[in-house]
Amino acid sequence: MKMRKGIVLAGGTGSRLFPMTTAVSKQLMPVFDKPMIYYPISVLMQAGIQDILMITTPHDQVQFQKLLGDGSQWGINIEWAVQPSPDGLAQALIIAEDFLDGAPSALILGDNLYFGAGFSQTLKSAQDNQNGATIFGYQVRDPSRYGVVGFDGDGKVTSLIEKPDHPASNYAVTGLYFYDPHAPEYARSVKPSERGELEITALNDIYLQCGELQVEFLDDGTTWLDTGTPRSLLAAAQFVSVIEERQGLRICCPEVEAFRQGWITSEQLLALAKQLRKSGYGSFLARIAAAG
Ligand code: DAU
Repeated sequence: MKMRKGIVLAGGTGSRLFPMTTAVSKQLMPVFDKPMIYYPISVLMQAGIQDILMITTPHDQVQFQKLLGDGSQWGINIEWAVQPSPDGLAQALIIAEDFLDGAPSALILGDNLYFGAGFSQTLKSAQDNQNGATIFGYQVRDPSRYGVVGFDGDGKVTSLIEKPDHPASNYAVTGLYFYDPHAPEYARSVKPSERGELEITALNDIYLQCGELQVEFLDDGTTWLDTGTPRSLLAAAQFVSVIEERQGLRICCPEVEAFRQGWITSEQLLALAKQLRKSGYGSFLARIAAAG
């Protein structure tokens, strides 16, 4: 089996954040002290994934490249693709087909933020499961905004419905999906929904119907946030700020993840810190590098 590759989908119009996103891609906007896109990238890195395809809109790609380059500064390989129009999340697998070249994948949405002590372990088990697909359920107050998991009396997952008016449960499907090598082929068989999109829920439903879908539920100790509206963006920034200020650390830094994984040395981390020395972010990196 080939090594799993990562896909970050960072296209879309960001229309729920207009006019903030009229000139700047949503996923480049800050969540407290770092660009939004750092959060999903650090999740893939935490899962041990070093080969990543970044999918952006055609016009935003240059700015993403300015920020992330080819990933070598973090010991990873970033390749680039565009999604000409926001035709749905499942299209990411079709766009990524050549990049994946028969490898299993992990797709993450560029506006999703995960944090928690047990989350690394959750990622490891998903990474180890080579068969079918693994998706993650998370209890929310307002499931109608999301893909929703339905269960039978024995707790077995029986349905996945995108933005239902009458949700079968309070469990939303989060924006992180682990797939076996069949995903691009299955994605090509998905037909556009009523809203004209290739729905990720339709792709996941194919795995469910074949009996090859694993739904892992994130525990209470894990936080999953999306950043689709001004209020949720502010809530995410406040969450990061509270944790970081209280503990005197920074979360979801790709530089630190690269160092923890042994993909860069403490000298390389220090060099990255020096480029950012006037910010608290840079001082934090220098502190981690010095602690070895
Ligand atoms: O956040 C989790 C939810 O994400 C899931 O529960 C839903 O099942 C899934 O459909 C999706 O729902 P959203 O309504 O949040 O998706 P949205 O259209 O907002 O797109 C999510 C991100 O992906 C957003 O940052 C924009 C980007 N995107 C979206 C589309 C449709 C693209 O890059 N390309 C696209 O074609």
